[in-house]
Amino acid sequence: MNEKKTLFSAIQPSGTITLGNYIGAIKNWIDLQDKFDCIFALADLHTITVRQDPKAFRKNTIEAYALLLACGINIKDSIFFIQSHVPAHSQLSWVLSCYTQFGELSRMTQFKDKSQKHSDNITCGLFSYPVLMASDILLYQADVVPVGADQKQHLELTRNVAERFNSIYTPTFKIPEPYIHKNGAKIMSLQEPLKKMSKSDSNPNSYISILDKPDDIIKKFKRAITDSESSVRFGEGKDGINNLMTIYSCMTNKSFDEIENEFSGLGYGEFKLSVAQAVIDKLTPIQTKFTELLSNKDYLEKCYKESAEKATYIANKTLNKVMKKIGFIN
Ligand code: TYM
Repeated sequence: MNEKKTLFSAIQPSGTITLGNYIGAIKNWIDLQDKFDCIFALADLHTITVRQDPKAFRKNTIEAYALLLACGINIKDSIFFIQSHVPAHSQLSWVLSCYTQFGELSRMTQFKDKSQKHSDNITCGLFSYPVLMASDILLYQADVVPVGADQKQHLELTRNVAERFNSIYTPTFKIPEPYIHKNGAKIMSLQEPLKKMSKSDSNPNSYISILDKPDDIIKKFKRAITDSESSVRFGEGKDGINNLMTIYSCMTNKSFDEIENEFSGLGYGEFKLSVAQAVIDKLTPIQTKFTELLSNKDYLEKCYKESAEKATYIANKTLNKVMKKIGFIN
């Protein structure tokens, strides 16, 4: 009997994948891979909530697929598919939108932020995006969903919608638990350390891309905003240093005490270089593997097609149950 629990998570293929994505989510996916039956998706349907250029979108999706494999998704044991290849996501999303309140979606802080940013294009898709996300998770009866802190509210909505559906009919969906690692759940911008590191930031110095070259990584960390003190310690009002310590800790598995001891008496300059080097050491092998994978499009296609078949089989089982319970004719 298979006793492993199911883990589901996804990421949008919207161009750059940042060190924030890596530390807050991807690294945890990889670390938890042996313990769970894992299902990962590239959430391309989510990406069109913001207008995409077709050619760039296609390229970004293939590159993100290769990059996630390069980060360590083990395609032998885990399923890793492209969301739009599994129609059940769109189908369940419509159904669940009829079990989600307008008021609930209006309270989503990410919707408020994004609609301000894209005030010329506030679509229904942007508004109902969390319902699609709930569908992603619930289709696979996921027990656990590793995400960064910014997705916590969407996870709460997912649980509420699932509980509502279960109580109207009979238990249908498993109620998923978020997995938000305390250290690194919110990596901050290198330029504005009170703001989340984000791939959509217009200033590329504010984020590290997983594909950044060593020289750029060093340059960006050297320019990172810190404070007027010069002691490497975790503390109030030291948001920039706290962020760099978090990054260093996640890259090296060292505790904050160990980091404070290591850099005691040394200045920020040396600390920043060490953070940069730790990041380079982690990203270089990923970049090498990425280049190798990207040159083998047939292999990538085989991986995402086989995964989509496996995902479709699981997703349709849940979707059929849902349709039957509601009263649709089989
Ligand atoms: P996305 O693509 O914006 O981000 C992917 C993952 O990266 C995390 N993350 C961060 N973690 C720490 N610090 C940061 N600065 C940072 N920036 C991003 C996010 O929390 C996320 O875990 N809606 C989701 C994708 C999605 C999904 C799902 C996730 C679609 N369906 C179902 C889980 C389950 C999104 O836009 O993530």
